[in-house]
Amino acid sequence: MSTDNTFNITKVSSTRVENVNLDDPGFGERFSDHMLEVEYREGQWQKPSIKPFGTIEVTPALNTLHYGQSVFEGMKAYYADENTVNLFRPEKNHQRLVRSCKRMCIPPVSEDVFIDGITKLIKLDHQWVPQKEGNTLYIRPFVCAFDPIISARVSDSYRFFIITTPVGSYYNRPVKLTTSQKYARAVKGGVGAAKTAGNYAASLYPAQEAEEKGFDQVLWLDACEHKFVEEVGTMNIFFVIDGVLVTPELSGTILPGITRASVIQLAKHWGLPVKERRLTIDEVMEAGANGTLDEAFGAGTAAVIAPVEEIHHDGQSVRFDFEQRGPVGQKLHDQITDIQWGKAEDPFGWITPISVNS
Ligand SMILES: Cc1ncc(COP(=O)(O)O)c(C=O)c1O
Repeated sequence: MSTDNTFNITKVSSTRVENVNLDDPGFGERFSDHMLEVEYREGQWQKPSIKPFGTIEVTPALNTLHYGQSVFEGMKAYYADENTVNLFRPEKNHQRLVRSCKRMCIPPVSEDVFIDGITKLIKLDHQWVPQKEGNTLYIRPFVCAFDPIISARVSDSYRFFIITTPVGSYYNRPVKLTTSQKYARAVKGGVGAAKTAGNYAASLYPAQEAEEKGFDQVLWLDACEHKFVEEVGTMNIFFVIDGVLVTPELSGTILPGITRASVIQLAKHWGLPVKERRLTIDEVMEAGANGTLDEAFGAGTAAVIAPVEEIHHDGQSVRFDFEQRGPVGQKLHDQITDIQWGKAEDPFGWITPISVNS
């Protein structure tokens, strides 16, 4: 074990990377050699440890397992060249993690531990960052309550982990979405804006029903009236209506996506009209029917810009006949991925490059 004053580091004796096909890694199935773990006890976060990836032993009474007091993040590391791996706006993921922690009564993790932890992990495991276009190393930081007690109360102890996994593309074809008049993802005053486990657990059953009907995902509507468009399970949603890029405003029930914010910033930079506003599903369907709905796409770290092939609502469908993305979605996709992969200029300072050979 070595220590650099701020981290205890135990390296693997030999890498497992040769056992993984980085050209076709799947999504979240294999994990790189090292992980980070930090304990919170006696009112403070302790010294972080980087160690070989492996199982953790927990009591079945661990309160996270019962009450879901946990939050997570999702981000990617991009291969730029043999010496450089890029992170995309990692400070934004940290800021969102802190907001999620606050909502879930979890002590926040410092930006230093978050960013330095990721940087050290990437330096150690840089051979795990796929080089094939479109493939990346997905980074999953998460915090969970660690009291060994069955009691629905705020925990006194926590663990922060970062694990990484090589991934391919999340969707390999345009997605089919359906609304639900019966289920809702998040309610006003609830935890929809936090990246917390329960939001995803709650959406599984409706997503399964949608899949049985031939759709990929639910296009969530607001929980009160089932009228206003919110987002998709793992992506924010955008529409191009009559030349204007429209996305639902952040209302507290939607996850404030980092890709969403980047799409808006880029589109405004290009002079494209952008509106963050309340938007009814009827308006979307009507625009689809009268020919003013030019495009629809999802935006998220995992899916990047995912074109929508179909939106189904209340017995009606709007279909798009692009084989891939529409022109606006394609332009955004290309520009964002080029910045992420270090192939285009980075006018907004979005990239944090990591030198992996120093
Ligand atoms: C529910 C939900 N909405 C939107 C997003 C997109 O957020 P981001 O662009 O930060 O990945 C995600 C993915 O993290 C998500 O899980």
